[in-house]
Amino acid sequence: MNTEALQNLAKAIDCSAPLVVLTGAGISAESGVRTFRDPDGYWARFDPAELASPEGFRRDPELVWRWYDARRRQLLQAQPNPGHRALVALEALCADFTLITQNVDGLHTAAGSQNVLEMHGSIWRLRCTRSTREWVSRDVFESFPVHCQCGALLRPAVLWFGEMYHQGRLQRALEAMRKAQTVLVVGTSGMVGIVSGLLDQASRQARLVEFNPNPSHISAACDTLIAGPAGESLPQLLQYIQSKTPRRP
Ligand code: APR
Repeated sequence: MNTEALQNLAKAIDCSAPLVVLTGAGISAESGVRTFRDPDGYWARFDPAELASPEGFRRDPELVWRWYDARRRQLLQAQPNPGHRALVALEALCADFTLITQNVDGLHTAAGSQNVLEMHGSIWRLRCTRSTREWVSRDVFESFPVHCQCGALLRPAVLWFGEMYHQGRLQRALEAMRKAQTVLVVGTSGMVGIVSGLLDQASRQARLVEFNPNPSHISAACDTLIAGPAGESLPQLLQYIQSKTPRRP
């Protein structure tokens, strides 16, 4: 159903020009990971303010930790899907490729993507609430809330509602958008401000193409909607690009 649109997009993409991919929870849906705002998503069952905010953590750190630990346990079983892997191959074909993700599941890095900006942090990183030191941990926990060796509470190093974006990552994302010739927006409802903010930086010069089974909050800002699951449409796009592009040395 998208064959012609994907063939035209493959023809239009110049792999020697800057390309940005901006992803949301939808790209991990085919890895069995819940999204947030789909009918069976996390926010259909939980209150984000209670589970993904500093106030919620202060109020009940055990509840928040149990929720993140349950997600970590589920994610230990999740594998990158063909959509993640298509982006790894696309990065190898491009001279200037930036992957900006709202996801904290680590599946882009696990698939092999190199230049990844995890704008909302990572569920696999912990942060001491006293020293703010961070480290990678794939531990699952048996008692909650979880404490640092120094005795302070540990928290997941993810961005919670009401918190500021990491300035370094935000600047790198803005710079990538400002020079992008093509932006692929994959699997996001666009409900969180960062998406439209970043797209605004690119809209003057870039081709904006959305990959989503459904129209979203940002569909009107994009030039094209490739309607369908990313795990199918991204590999198809890659195939058309590979058939026209020699592998980079
Ligand atoms: N392929 C592509 N897109 C898909 C697929 C799929 N197989 N399945 C679902 N989608 C789309 C949905 O149609 C929806 O538009 O993915 C999108 C998921 O939207 P959200 O659940 O809102 O997730 P996201 O946009 O990533 O949310 C952004 O909100 O709560 C915060 O921090 C959280 O990072 C998250 C942010």
